Amino acid sequence: MTTNTFLNPVTTQTWSNGRHLVRCVKAIQETWDVRTFCFMADQPMVFFFKPGQFVTLELEIDGQPIMRSYTISSSPSVPYSFSITIKRVPGGKVSNWLHDNLKEGDVLPVHGPVGLFNAIDFPADKVLFLSGGVGITPVMSMARWFFDTNGNVDMVFVHSARAPKDIIYHRELRHMASRIENFKLHLICEKYEIGETWSGYRGYLNQRMLELIAPDFMEREIFCCGPTPYMHAIKRLLEANGFDMQRYHEEAFGPTPPEIRAEVTEHAAEAAEAAEVPAADLNLVNFSGTGKSIRVAPGETVHAAAAKLGLHIPKACGMGICGTCKVMKTAGEVSMEHNGGITDEDVAEGYILSCCSVPRGDVTIDY
Ligand SMILES: Cc1cc2nc3c(=O)[nH]c(=O)nc-3n(C[C@H](O)[C@H](O)[C@H](O)COP(=O)(O)OP(=O)(O)OC[C@H]3O[C@@H](n4cnc5c(N)ncnc54)[C@H](O)[C@@H]3O)c2cc1C
Ligand code: FES
Repeated sequence: MTTNTFLNPVTTQTWSNGRHLVRCVKAIQETWDVRTFCFMADQPMVFFFKPGQFVTLELEIDGQPIMRSYTISSSPSVPYSFSITIKRVPGGKVSNWLHDNLKEGDVLPVHGPVGLFNAIDFPADKVLFLSGGVGITPVMSMARWFFDTNGNVDMVFVHSARAPKDIIYHRELRHMASRIENFKLHLICEKYEIGETWSGYRGYLNQRMLELIAPDFMEREIFCCGPTPYMHAIKRLLEANGFDMQRYHEEAFGPTPPEIRAEVTEHAAEAAEAAEVPAADLNLVNFSGTGKSIRVAPGETVHAAAAKLGLHIPKACGMGICGTCKVMKTAGEVSMEHNGGITDEDVAEGYILSCCSVPRGDVTIDY
């Protein structure tokens, strides 16, 4: 089938939040440790989403089901495919597996698109994009969207990388800056290596640099994504300036991998058990779908309780962003500290995110 007959706009479907099978159609090496994977559906489909949103990949590695979230780095202005851009994390299970194994033609299920961190829900005439490392992906999607759609948005794009060789989308960013007036690019490198030349900013983004780069930063809507210390530093800087933090939006890729969080939670629970938590303080978590139940120490999540019983509730981000671990609570109360991974409607219906919900007494979960 030729592309022309395949991409028939009349029979094309529109992507909506859910589980979809997609085929990897292209893999592009962006830098020495960053790779972009492009996907299309086997049925003609337009991938509309809000620039900045993410998908969650459903994978099987070494016979184990595993899920991870990745921002859509492409723009919905190029809607017949979408891309994710992945950095190898030293020792990381999924990122390295994808780099080493995912190839053209492979089919995999993805969940999404979802995410509150996006350029559509916070419209503004002037924006400041701040990113560090692979945190560039959501703001690149936003910038590509405004660029392609001739958005009347004044963009200042500030990206920090370790060294020139680590700058993701370097050529495309320069191309965009050379084509339109309303896209100002500023690249900052922490260091540069022997043989590398660099005439841009050096070091870390600080007050002085920000004032030079965007003297009007106080008037801008700010979208920030990067390593946790980077985002903390930016937040501190803005707060010190009295910036209206309602206009500051950030996305965390997760400081602690879910496995470690689970371990920490389990250790906390074991420690609590070792300290002989009075039986009256233990909460009963009853999984009605499987007829299993367990008493857990205060502070232990519903997800950790399920894991102790050998129940595998899918989990990706481990911090209430992605919605992968959503389950129905039919009785009892929990404290849920989520980061936007669940809608108010879902909460009203009784759903909770098991990774970040701690029972406040005995609870029943339909799982
Ligand atoms: C909303 C969202 C969007 C994201 N978008 C992107 C994106 O666009 N691009 C991108 O590259 N990433 C993105 N991420 C991050 C991504 O989901 C993964 O977290 C990342 O790829 C690392 O996964 P991994 O399986 O390779 O690493 P993991 O296996 O989860 O390990 C992460 C780190 O922890 C260490 N580690 C693992 N287990 C242990 C242990 N038991 N003890 C000690 N250390 C341990 C590893 O060595 C490694 O350094 C996003 C995350 C979220 C939540
Ligand atoms: S695993 Fe992402 S919200 Fe729980």
